[in-house]
Amino acid sequence: MFNTELFQSALETSWLGHSFRFFEEIQSTNNYLKQLPGGEISHGMVCLADYQSKGRGQYERNWDSQPGVNLTFTLCFIPGKAERLHVLTLTGAWALREVIGDTLAGRVTIKWPNDVNINEKKVAGLLTETIFNGNRLDRVLVGIGINVNQTRFEGELEQSATSLKKEKGETVGRERFLAAFLSRMEYGYQQWHKHSTDLIRGINRNIEGYGKWIHLVVDGEERADRYKFIGVNENGRLLVIDTEGEINTFSYEQIRLVTD
Ligand code: BTN
Repeated sequence: MFNTELFQSALETSWLGHSFRFFEEIQSTNNYLKQLPGGEISHGMVCLADYQSKGRGQYERNWDSQPGVNLTFTLCFIPGKAERLHVLTLTGAWALREVIGDTLAGRVTIKWPNDVNINEKKVAGLLTETIFNGNRLDRVLVGIGINVNQTRFEGELEQSATSLKKEKGETVGRERFLAAFLSRMEYGYQQWHKHSTDLIRGINRNIEGYGKWIHLVVDGEERADRYKFIGVNENGRLLVIDTEGEINTFSYEQIRLVTD
């Protein structure tokens, strides 16, 4: 079982994760923080479960994770404005990439729009959701699932997924890993909040396909032309140059990248 005391003694953040809720089993940590009354919510709160019976992924998919060996948790932020939230998701992916890069030697990349890969296999995914009170942003939930010590994956995941343990060849301590991630994420959040261009550079340097000729799937349809991927901008829009040399920008919802 996740050792909350060990995690708390390893935690070195100023605020992120100081309020911490652990469940052995819950439907979904995102759902839990979604329904929690405003009075019980705080900026920087983290909810973690050893097992989610209805873990959710992007595009209405399920997020199934072997009980007790991985990390499935949600961060709660109260940023005030519902702006640049896609950059916040990418900041989570960036922080995770950094801490995984410190842990093992493989090629760790951010995969647009919200995954982290090791040697081109998915190790983690992020699901950001917003809660509004009327038209006021109440909270932002960044849900994160990381394959830490799972070594067997079923069906098509056998080819496309990996874990820290598989890549490193040894078990990774979940408590210390989470504490290290939260330190990076706290720094990343502060950078995100002050519109840091270094943060955007850090994301772009590590995003798959950066500087390469790629294909785009726009609103579900793959375009025949190739585009040069020149990263994301301050607002989280994706930038590409077409074969005529024109810069095109796309929003997160519209686009998937196909790299060779
Ligand atoms: C994806 O890759 O599709 C995103 C996966 C996000 C999964 C996490 S696990 C913790 C949090 N609670 C959920 O129900 N989903 C997110």
